[in-house]
Amino acid sequence: KALDVVVVGSCMTDLVSQAPRLPKAGETIHGHKFFIGFGGKGANQCIQAARLGVKTAMICKVGKDFFGNNYIQNFKDNEVLTDFVSQTSDEATGAASIIVNKEGENAIVIVAGANMLLGKEELQEALPAIRRAKVLLCQLEINPQTSLQALQMAREHKVKTVFNPAPAISDLDCNFYTVSDVFCCNESEAELLTGCSVADVEDAHRAAQELQKRGCSAVIITLGSQGCVVLKAQESKSIHVPAAAVTAVDTTGAGDSFIGALAFYMADQPAMPLEEMARRANQVAGVSVRAVGTQTSFPSKRNLPAELF
Ligand code: RIB
Ligand code: NA
Repeated sequence: KALDVVVVGSCMTDLVSQAPRLPKAGETIHGHKFFIGFGGKGANQCIQAARLGVKTAMICKVGKDFFGNNYIQNFKDNEVLTDFVSQTSDEATGAASIIVNKEGENAIVIVAGANMLLGKEELQEALPAIRRAKVLLCQLEINPQTSLQALQMAREHKVKTVFNPAPAISDLDCNFYTVSDVFCCNESEAELLTGCSVADVEDAHRAAQELQKRGCSAVIITLGSQGCVVLKAQESKSIHVPAAAVTAVDTTGAGDSFIGALAFYMADQPAMPLEEMARRANQVAGVSVRAVGTQTSFPSKRNLPAELF
């Protein structure tokens, strides 16, 4: 059976506090709301793609603990194939401590835990799923070598690859570029990777070219309220795709919503121009920032306008 989108990536339990602002070092402040949610960039992206209506599978590792058990149930509730979700008793399920300020901005600390134990054995076992995928998606919340190997396996089997270098590391292995069909990051990640400031659309055009020079086919740099910049394969000029203005309640996971939606379009409508996929993915992510939480705020097909499909 064909699979549309396969994600090799992270699961985190999000521990979220809403506060008027982010605290300074050594400071204690009062927040007004606390909640626990399902997060982790890999799982978030997978869940967003699944909610838009494609068949998805998640290749990941959680702990043999309460959070891990709950996470597996969450995948099942969202119709994500869990055959390649493994559990370990050596580490706890990944956790993310998140603080959201009144502007909807956030600061996050992740403790990857079990995510770091996902390795080549698990990838070998999941090869039947990887090879029959239309799109494979990876990030950097697991061991980077595991992400790189997954992308390479996908390439060998002619599966389209999307790589999201998040959270970014400044010494990214250069093989990540050559193995990416679409290299998709936000402005701060682009800045860290290129060493040049990415403060506006013009900077983003330049950064996209630099990343493409390093060997990826297409590049997308997301710019929050400014939309994104898309540099297609074999082209030298990038396109700015603006986003509609939205009042942000919580932007946590908006990038994941965008990438999950992008993977959905790549699997579902591969002939669609990349800038059109990005325009639609902007709209999906725009819905997610209007509600609190990560996955809790990701829209499903039935809650979106028909013209997006
Ligand atoms: O991108 C948002 C995600 O980053 C959160 O869900 C949190 O788990 C961190 O991984
Ligand atoms: Na949100």
